[in-house]
Amino acid sequence: MAILPILTYPDERLKQDAKPVTVFDEKLRKLADDMAETMYAAPGVGLAANQVGVLAQVVVLDTSYSEGRPNLIVLVNPEILEAQDTMEWEEGCLSLPEVHENVKRHRRVKVRAMDVDGNPFEVEAEGNLLAAALQHEIDHLKGVVLLDRLGLLKRRALHRTLLKRKAAAG
Ligand code: NI
Repeated sequence: MAILPILTYPDERLKQDAKPVTVFDEKLRKLADDMAETMYAAPGVGLAANQVGVLAQVVVLDTSYSEGRPNLIVLVNPEILEAQDTMEWEEGCLSLPEVHENVKRHRRVKVRAMDVDGNPFEVEAEGNLLAAALQHEIDHLKGVVLLDRLGLLKRRALHRTLLKRKAAAG
C-alpha cells in the first residue's frame, strides 16, 4: 500500500468527471487500498479518486474510524437512488485545507454501488455524517467540490483565500 499525494483546489482534475469502472482487477484493488491508506493517514472520513488524480468512479469512506470502530466502505460506480428532505451539515474536504462550511444536503439518501469485485450493494443513511459524506464524495466524482455548493459571495471569498494559501505554500 502507498500513501498518495492529495490534489488541492483549484487543481483541474477536481473539476472533471470520473469515468465508470468497467474492469474489476488487481489494479482497482490496489487503487482502493492506496486510497484507504491515504484517507486514514490524512486523516479524513472520505476520499474520491479524483482527489488523487485518478478519474475513475471510486470512493473510500469511513465515518466511524474516529470513534474507534473502523468500518471501511469502498464504493465503485456509486449512484444516488433516492434522496429526501434537506439538512445543513458542516463539511471539510482534504482538497480544501482548513475550509469548514455548512452545506445544504439531502437528509436521507440511498446509494447503490459495487465493491471492488463488482458485487452490487446499497447503503442508506439519514441525518448523519455518513449521509453528508456519501453526497460529498459522489459530488467529487462529478467534478463538484463543496465550494460549488456555497453561495456566490462565500465561494468567491474562499476561492481567493485558497489561492493565496496555495501560493504561499509554493
Ligand atoms: Ni472532499
